[in-house]
Amino acid sequence: MNMLLDIGVDTVDLADIYGDYAATKLFGEVLKADPTLSKRIQIVTKADIVLLSEKHPEVYVQHYDTSAEHIIASVEQSLQDLGRDYIDLLLIHRPDPFMDPLEVSQAFDELYNEGKVHAFGVSNFMPYHHSLLSKYTKQPLLVNQIEISLMHPNPFLDSQIPYMMENDITPMAWSPTGGGRLFTSEEQKAINLRLALGVIAHNHNATAEQIAYAWLLNHPSNIVVVAGSSNFKRVKAAVEAEDILLDRQEWFYLLQQATGESVP
Ligand SMILES: NC(=O)c1ccc[n+]([C@@H]2O[C@H](COP(=O)([O-])OP(=O)(O)OC[C@H]3O[C@@H](n4cnc5c(N)ncnc54)[C@H](OP(=O)(O)O)[C@@H]3O)[C@@H](O)[C@H]2O)c1
Repeated sequence: MNMLLDIGVDTVDLADIYGDYAATKLFGEVLKADPTLSKRIQIVTKADIVLLSEKHPEVYVQHYDTSAEHIIASVEQSLQDLGRDYIDLLLIHRPDPFMDPLEVSQAFDELYNEGKVHAFGVSNFMPYHHSLLSKYTKQPLLVNQIEISLMHPNPFLDSQIPYMMENDITPMAWSPTGGGRLFTSEEQKAINLRLALGVIAHNHNATAEQIAYAWLLNHPSNIVVVAGSSNFKRVKAAVEAEDILLDRQEWFYLLQQATGESVP
């Protein structure tokens, strides 16, 4: 973590369910090993997915739970696992078709007023989900963490990114390399994208990987990339991609490879 802080990466993205409910506790061990760390980092975590897991034998169907009781219990568990007094940013992990927005709002109020969560957002929400929940919450829903990458450019083309820009919501891009498929898949789209990235990378004296991150970072919606690599050099390359400026034609050339067609 100290190496990451040295290159400016200070935010960790977690969820209560990650690693079959074990990731937050594991990260808590990291924080306990260096007591100075907790104050220097920001923690994002998420609640509402309920997995089928041996740890929860009472659960017989995977579901979402946005009840106040579940949201508050999830945050309390995360705080205990992390050995921390607060979460920097709490996200509702996925839109819940059984959601009572008033109950979510009450849970957010309680967590905010007790200082246990400093800010709120959502994940995988379409504009209509965001619009519904934000009508009820006193705290603004500051971010929406969604899948965006050259392997999944749809949010640029449908209403998702325009809605976020219109409403000052920060997009966080999960799977920015399509979970690595952009560089490992043998599907034709990935092969075409690698060729195009190689050409543009050559022009910028950068790597193909950096151009893939720059394609997201250059967008005027101010996307925050949630890189999933466990390889320090790859994370450093992603940070350095912030300095690469693509021109409009380069951006569209990559979009064309991503969608398989020219814009009309
Ligand atoms: N909100 C949600 O619903 C949601 C859903 C999924 C994920 N997330 C969050 O988003 C984070 C990132 O997602 P992700 O892990 O799918 O993102 P990602 O950064 O697109 O994928 C990471 C994977 O790609 C591999 N990779 C990266 N660059 C590569 C390269 N040049 N060549 C070969 N392999 C490469 C990494 O391997 P190495 O480790 O070997 O580099 C790693 O296995 C997750 O950790 C999670 O926090 C959120």
